[in-house]
Amino acid sequence: MPGLVIVGAQWGDEGKGKVVDLLAEQADLVIRFQGGNNAGHTIVRDGETFKFHLIPSGILYPGKLCAIGNGVVVDPKVLTAEIDELRRRRIDTSGLRISANAHLIMPYHKLLDQEGEAKLGKLQIGTTRRGIGPCYADKASRLGIRMQDLLDEKILRKKIYAALEPKRSMLRPYAKEPELDLHTMTEEYRILGHRLETHIADTAPIAWRVEDEGGLVLFEGAQGTLLDIDHGTYPFVTSSNVVAGSACAGAGVGPRSIDEVWGIAKAYTTRVGAGPFPTELEDSLGESIREAGREFGTTTGRPRRTGWLDLVALRYATRVNGLTGLVVTKLDVLTGIDQLQVAVRYLGPEGARFDEYPYHQSILHRAHGDYVQLPGWHEDLSGARSLEDLPANARAYLDYISDFLGIPVVMTGVGPGRDEMIWTGAAERLRPAAA
Ligand code: IMP
Repeated sequence: MPGLVIVGAQWGDEGKGKVVDLLAEQADLVIRFQGGNNAGHTIVRDGETFKFHLIPSGILYPGKLCAIGNGVVVDPKVLTAEIDELRRRRIDTSGLRISANAHLIMPYHKLLDQEGEAKLGKLQIGTTRRGIGPCYADKASRLGIRMQDLLDEKILRKKIYAALEPKRSMLRPYAKEPELDLHTMTEEYRILGHRLETHIADTAPIAWRVEDEGGLVLFEGAQGTLLDIDHGTYPFVTSSNVVAGSACAGAGVGPRSIDEVWGIAKAYTTRVGAGPFPTELEDSLGESIREAGREFGTTTGRPRRTGWLDLVALRYATRVNGLTGLVVTKLDVLTGIDQLQVAVRYLGPEGARFDEYPYHQSILHRAHGDYVQLPGWHEDLSGARSLEDLPANARAYLDYISDFLGIPVVMTGVGPGRDEMIWTGAAERLRPAAA
């Protein structure tokens, strides 16, 4: 059984959680490797809706090993709240493991995130305000506090002091906030550590063991390729590497542990937050896609920007992740549109044409899609369970994407439920028996 990485191929919110949830049935370990609670997955299981921000989507299978890898930044308050909620709903959380080396989001990270955005004014990134950027910044500055620090009060206090001191001037507007008091914070985090203690582990060897035993490790990515700190639309990106290569560093395995990389993409495009979006639809069609696709953030509730499928960006995502397969989600949302458009190149000012994703920010900011029109369909897709059940135009849409990218479409989504997925036959060995 292989190591399979699941990554977002667009700007996040592609439906990775649902795909991971489906594949998790036969996985022996699901491990997250980057990001934090800026992510949000909604999973509909037997009519019940579950929302996760930190816990890997596989947790709904009783006893399933689900790990939060060292590359994730963890807000322990959010994590304990998620665990409590799952327990309240009688979901077994005994398989949850949290890397002792994962960095912690502290109260000051959230305040610095807010403050940083406010200072940027019109130039703001539109972060989720969850403290992600400041936490990764502290990690790189070697001022981070890690999960294991929670288990030693003396070390915890010293590290919080060291991390807090250089931030005093930035935090001056919040000087009176009780949560910034060294003693209060140390005590609060010590208690959180105590609550999480049974889940704290060395997660990399868990992955090695599963691999040695021939099991399936699912590496669950968060956000999307174009939000990657190196390969995305910098500075309108998140603060971690989200591409497939990051699975190795963020989980503690080598590249040879990865056999398959699947990108998840919607049948159209969305983006939350600021930054370039060459295929954006700022008209009533964009609005109706937003309504039909329920495109409002799981984490912040913000309306997502919507647009046509961007094959230039997707081909780029195919290369930077080394995708071996694509999952096209939310195909049903496009039902009822007579003529669909897909961007096959970008057009810049003065008629410039870009067949490849341009590295230059000024070009990207001014680029818009050059489209090919594909005929739409009007039939309801929700009952389709095989490619043959799809209208010919929907099949042709998928074929066009697959031909353009040079990789197979392995699955496509036709509704929010976990059974509303079509396996195309391109990845049968990973298909769960029940699907
Ligand atoms: P941050 O990750 O909170 O620092 O936000 C940086 C950028 O990434 C913003 O544009 C956010 O809207 C975006 N972002 C972060 N996480 C997600 C996600 O899970 N889905 C979609 N966008 C995200």
